[in-house]
This record gives sequence, structure tokens and C-alpha cells, in this order.
Amino acid sequence: MSTPLAPQILSSSLEDLVTLFDVRPSDSALPAAERDALVASSPKFGTVFTDHMARVSWTAADGWRDRRVEPYGPLQLDPATAVLHYAQEIFEGLKAYRHADGSVWTFRPEANADRFARSAHRLALPALSVDDFVASIAALVRTDEAWVPTAEESSLYLRPFMYASEAFLGVRPSLEAEFLVIASPVGAYFSGGVKPVSIWVDTQYSRAGAGGTGAAKCGGNYASSLLPQVEAQKHGCEQVCFLDAGTGTFLEELGGMNVFVVRADGSVETPELTGSILEGVTRSSIIALLGDAGRTVTERRIPLADLLADIESGAVTEVFACGTAAVVTPIGRLAGTAFDHTIADGGPGAVTMAVREELTGIQTGRVADRHGWLRRLA
Ligand code: COI
Repeated sequence: MSTPLAPQILSSSLEDLVTLFDVRPSDSALPAAERDALVASSPKFGTVFTDHMARVSWTAADGWRDRRVEPYGPLQLDPATAVLHYAQEIFEGLKAYRHADGSVWTFRPEANADRFARSAHRLALPALSVDDFVASIAALVRTDEAWVPTAEESSLYLRPFMYASEAFLGVRPSLEAEFLVIASPVGAYFSGGVKPVSIWVDTQYSRAGAGGTGAAKCGGNYASSLLPQVEAQKHGCEQVCFLDAGTGTFLEELGGMNVFVVRADGSVETPELTGSILEGVTRSSIIALLGDAGRTVTERRIPLADLLADIESGAVTEVFACGTAAVVTPIGRLAGTAFDHTIADGGPGAVTMAVREELTGIQTGRVADRHGWLRRLA
């Protein structure tokens, strides 16, 4: 049985695909008053989940099948399930935003879908079509629309993911996979809201090497960032920044965010995509918005030594991190084993906050969507 559709707001072929998702309503959905109170409390990132999840199953023999929206709940896994042993898994992160008129929108889902397909290829998982990716999100958000927050800085974080579900211990690509989307109402990613964070530049561990999986959004990359992240916290920093594995001299990215540097002359730099850096959707959106504002944005290899010297001399005035979860987060301090630098006065920079304001303005409908990045879901 499928739920009645919202008026047509995606393309008609996508609407057709959304109808293929069989909605199996939860009989233990949270009562409306409890749900609304929970959503309004801006829960800590990724701790509260909606009543349902979208799901599509794949086998090498039959392809993608059984599109459904089913009650959110535990997955039953055979102990031999491939993902538990060889980490054949990928994921995405995007958000649904409530606009002032009550409508619900998402931001550049096709870009996430394209990256998901690239990640799937690198992890030898099956390709899911862009249409299936977007339709699964629409089907879930429409079912759990009441969970999309209205408060400023809040949104419904969407986490599509795919894992190798075949039960076997041989090291070869799984012949079965599951694709799911779960949703979580969220406030700011960092506790304390939008305030500058401190970054520990790690020189002991690498995130990804040449030819590795650095550009893929796979769980293994994040697993390898956890120990350095613990080290960062031991040094009083919220996040870790990795250097390139080859020479240990160039800035790459943080544990789950891309990084930008603003120079005193108003130009902006970000590490170029060398194959070991995640091709952030927020990163590419920011490059476009800064370009629109007439700023020169250069993607290049940024030597840590140069950055530190430029922070000291005042030639670099702002550093910020970005990602779907973190949006745009100012970096106030860069520390490492041999240095500890406050960036400018340690406060949020003007360029950082302006691009943050514009990006969140587009996402939440306060600023015109001149690039056509928004897709209405409900
Ligand atoms: C995102 O920004 O959506 C991510 O997947 C990063 C993760 C650290 C939350």
C-alpha cells in the first residue's frame, strides 16, 4: 500500500519512482506531542531518529528491488555479513530544510547521488541511480515530514548508506547489498553552536593515500580518523586536520569536513582535489558563492609551513571548515606538536560568516536560489 502523494513537486518521472516505494507505516510511531517536543529541543547531532527509514535491496542476480519505506528499527545481520569484516560500505549526508511557508526542500541531492555512485564504484558496490537516490529521500521525508524542524539552524539530517549484506567470508565484492536512508532532526553540529573551533594538525597519522579511498565517502575513512580525533581532543581541540600521506606537508581535510583559507587581500584558497580529499558538495557550493561575490578562489596544494607563516604575519586572516553537517564553521586556532596559532583575533571572520549566511539563506529559502540548487520534497 502506498500513501497518497503530495502534489507534484519533483519531475514526473521522479514522482513515478516515488510511488514505487511501498510505505509500511510504523505501529509504534512517537506520539505527535512527544515528537514535536523532541524536534523542538534541537537534539544533539545524530542522536534522535524519525519513525521510518527508506530501503532498497540489491542482488547481483536481480538488481535493485523491493523499494519501501518501513518502520525505523534494528537490522538483523548474520555474523558473517561482508560489511562487518571488510568494511564494504559507503554513505552520504544531506539535509531537508523547512521554509517559512511550511514547504520542505533539499539541497543539490543529485550532487550527493553522483558522489554516492562514485563511492559505490570505488568500493565495488552496485551503482544506485540518481533517480532512485532522490526518490528514496522524497519517499522518506514525505512519510516523516512532521519531523522536519522549524527552528533556525535546525534541519532534518538525511543519511543514505549502502552496505555489503551477503553472508560470506571470502574477500570479493558482495553479491548482495542493502541501501537505506535514515533521518535525524538536528541543530548545530558542534555543541555551543556557531563559534570558532580549534583544530589539531596531525603529523603522525594519515587519512588517505594516493590511489586509496580518500575521495570516496566510505566508513573506513572515518574509522581511520577516530584515533587522531581522540589525540586532537587530548590537546584541547575539537577536530583533527590531516596532511597529505605522501609528503606530510600539504593540508588535506579535517575528520569529516573540507577546509578553506581566507587571505588578507580577500582571496580564498582550498586544498585541490588530489584524489585523497572528499569532493564536498558544500565545498563546491562555497567555491561558487565566493566566485559570485567576485572573490578569487584558488584550489591548490597548501603547504602547512606557508599557512602557519601567513597566519603569523597576518597574510591569512580566516580559516574555516565546511560540510553538510558542520555547514560553515570558523576555525579560531590551529595547533600541532610544534606550534599553536590563534587565527587573527580567534573570532569568526567576516568572509566566513558572510558565506555561511548566504549558503544557509539559500538552503532555508531566505536568499534567492540563483543556481537552482534546491529541490522541493514536500
Ligand atoms: C556530513 O557532513 O554530512 C558528513 O557526513 C560528515 C560527518 C562527519 C557527519
